[in-house]
Amino acid sequence: MPTLGVNIDHVATLRQARRTVEPDPVAAATLVELAGADGITVHLREDRRHIQDRDVHLLRQTLRTHLNLEMAATDDMVAIALAVKPDYVTLVPERREEVTTEGGLDVLAQVDRLQGVVATLQGADIPVSLFIDPSPLQIEAAARTQAAYIELHTGAYAEARRPDDRDRQLQALIQGTSLAQGLGLRVNAGHGLTYWNTHAVASIAGMEELNIGHSIISRAVLVGLERAVMDMKQIITQASCQQQPQASA
Ligand code: PXP
Repeated sequence: MPTLGVNIDHVATLRQARRTVEPDPVAAATLVELAGADGITVHLREDRRHIQDRDVHLLRQTLRTHLNLEMAATDDMVAIALAVKPDYVTLVPERREEVTTEGGLDVLAQVDRLQGVVATLQGADIPVSLFIDPSPLQIEAAARTQAAYIELHTGAYAEARRPDDRDRQLQALIQGTSLAQGLGLRVNAGHGLTYWNTHAVASIAGMEELNIGHSIISRAVLVGLERAVMDMKQIITQASCQQQPQASA
């Protein structure tokens, strides 16, 4: 059975929309852990659009489960990872204009460079995962970098609308997992997984961890909204019961 890593970037997105202190992703991480998640995933983007450096440092101090730091393979980010020492790092492609991580890393085009980044991080006891599409060429290239893990991009599977297309994408994930394991890689998966499409991916033999964010945080907004409105209503109701009569002029 795969473990669940919960990506809490979207909590930080809501905070950054107001540049305020709530909701605090560090507080959210504690609740996520108490609910049974096996790990916390955050993406520290170059443009710091959601998760901030402060979050990563505090999470490192407060988490009881593991911290998966998603990041671009840049010198600046490698320096941060070496200082923070997350339990593992997932290297992702990053483009400023994208809404979210859109495709997998092109490992094939940069095996030598990634080998260096992997050697630096793993030399400091930080296992590295490469976020890639389930393509045999990318999986074989990932194995050549000596990374401990890959994370298979499940976006194409999640977005497939026709059943035959979805089946084809699922087969690619199943075969990709098996190829990767044969090459000595450990396998995680994520992106676009929801309450409706996760079962099939969680059933893939040997899958180690699923990283899921948007769908869980979206459900949290809806299942938590009723309680949040009731709490505010109670404050207003109590205040109106205790209202002082207006002083007459
Ligand atoms: N895995 C990786 C590498 C990601 O970049 C993301 C999105 O930040 C996720 C998993 C989670 O994707 P989602 O938010 O669609 O569940």
